[in-house]
Amino acid sequence: MNMSTIGERISTGVPGLDDIIEGGLIPGKVYLITGPPGSGKTTMGMHFLIDGAKKGEKVAYASLIQNPEEAVKDMMRFDPSIKVYSTSKKLLLFDLGPMLWRESSHVPTWKSVLFRLREIAEDEKISRLVIDPVTAIEFSMEHPAEKRAELARFIRGLEDLNVTAYLIAEMTDLDHYTEEHYLVSGVIMLHYFLHEGRMVRAIQVLKMRRTNHRTGLYPIEFTNRGLEVKGESPFSNVRL
Ligand SMILES: Nc1ncnc2c1ncn2[C@@H]1O[C@H](COP(=O)(O)OP(=O)(O)OP(=O)(O)O)[C@@H](O)[C@H]1O
Ligand SMILES: [Mg+2]
Repeated sequence: MNMSTIGERISTGVPGLDDIIEGGLIPGKVYLITGPPGSGKTTMGMHFLIDGAKKGEKVAYASLIQNPEEAVKDMMRFDPSIKVYSTSKKLLLFDLGPMLWRESSHVPTWKSVLFRLREIAEDEKISRLVIDPVTAIEFSMEHPAEKRAELARFIRGLEDLNVTAYLIAEMTDLDHYTEEHYLVSGVIMLHYFLHEGRMVRAIQVLKMRRTNHRTGLYPIEFTNRGLEVKGESPFSNVRL
């Protein structure tokens, strides 16, 4: 790495979000995006990928449950250019769901998913990757120590691909941090909660290594261009 690239950061593609993480994400790292159902996780992933495609990068969306075309259709409402990027193969879509359902395989799913992602990264030379949702991948459940080691190998494996990756995770229990939270370089949480009599959305940067990030719950909204962080100041007096 030469001097000019040290300290370089890449945009999340979500207006207002880069400002609370010192200008953007450190490239080549793995980030966890968590939140309850419908909180905007997939939309956030798509903003990140479109931002790369707009800058001429090749990016990939690996879907583990939903058909990836559905996520593109959802995103078209906010940014119709996504169709252009997927047609021109700047944005590559991979449906890895069937891999998880194959019954006869003796290889643990995390290993085969990592193997496939390595092929994709090498063949296609992608710079950004979104895995949605990573919680669909099987890790050893009976042995916590084993799960931690497997996850660590999975995340290390992703870091070796030389891509900036989002792991999208479902999370509803705020008091329970899982291994993923400790192993990744950054954790961004999307919240959807009752505040002063109405449901509101907020975003919170729980951790971001090497970054002097803000820690509050910043209001975030769906506009006709997708997700946008609204306002400079976080919510006060919120109890989740
Ligand atoms: N135009 C819109 N205006 C307001 N909210 C919208 C609009 N379009 C979508 N939404 C909200 O976005 C949600 C879907 O966003 P997204 O798919 O990114 O969430 P998610 O966290 O990935 O959900 P899931 O847990 O189902 O995967 C919808 O459930 C809805 O609440
Ligand atoms: Mg989703």
